[in-house]
Amino acid sequence: MNKLVITSDGSHTIYVPELDEHYHSIHGAVQESEHIFIRSGFDFCQANPLHIFEVGFGTGLNALLTAIKAEQGTREVIYTSIEKYPLEEYISGQLNHYNFAGERGRAISSLISSAPWGTMNSICRNFRLMKIAGDITKEEVKGKFDLVYFDAFGPEKQPDMWTLWIFEKISMITEKNGILVTYSSKGDVKRNLRSAGFRVTRLPGPPGKREITRAIKI
Ligand SMILES: C[S@@+](CC[C@H](N)C(=O)[O-])C[C@H]1O[C@@H](n2cnc3c(N)ncnc32)[C@H](O)[C@@H]1O
Repeated sequence: MNKLVITSDGSHTIYVPELDEHYHSIHGAVQESEHIFIRSGFDFCQANPLHIFEVGFGTGLNALLTAIKAEQGTREVIYTSIEKYPLEEYISGQLNHYNFAGERGRAISSLISSAPWGTMNSICRNFRLMKIAGDITKEEVKGKFDLVYFDAFGPEKQPDMWTLWIFEKISMITEKNGILVTYSSKGDVKRNLRSAGFRVTRLPGPPGKREITRAIKI
């Protein structure tokens, strides 16, 4: 059974015993998400309006931090996220991520977690969210995206999520000059991204991780 765990910055993550894997870095879940997805992805991508696709909705932490940024800014953000195993309410209801998201954190977090799956939901100013309950290896994803948050479980634990075939699928729905960010900087991952039509850059990682990957669709 999944367990709630406190990471080094005080924010929660979830431990999955069957995979011996955490949803986020144990060195700081919020810190990791801000570093990889917000600063290296959202802040770097200039598209306006901004269409984001996320692989692995999980706890909704990336969605929450993105919604806060969108509300504070001027860009319209349309966020689509796919999740094979939506979290049960008993565990998502205990997450403390809103404590790290400022005064609007609690309200926005609650709107994100209660948003119905399979439809577009207006969450707050400048932020709309579509949560898809589905499997990225099977589901046909429609649309074109400027920014991809690739946040699957690690390549050692879930190799089928990091294949050339998956990155080709992602490449097809990524705009030219669109950006993909992910925490993995493994050689195979970078090679598959290049073969799928991305130019790959290594960036310094958050605490506990030497490097992360940002890729730009050619
Ligand atoms: C590293 S966690 C994601 C963390 C998440 N972005 C967050 O902010 O909490 C990986 C997520 O990918 C989901 N996942 C695993 N296999 C999947 C698949 N085939 N299709 C879609 N999602 C999948 C897992 O259930 C898990 O929620």
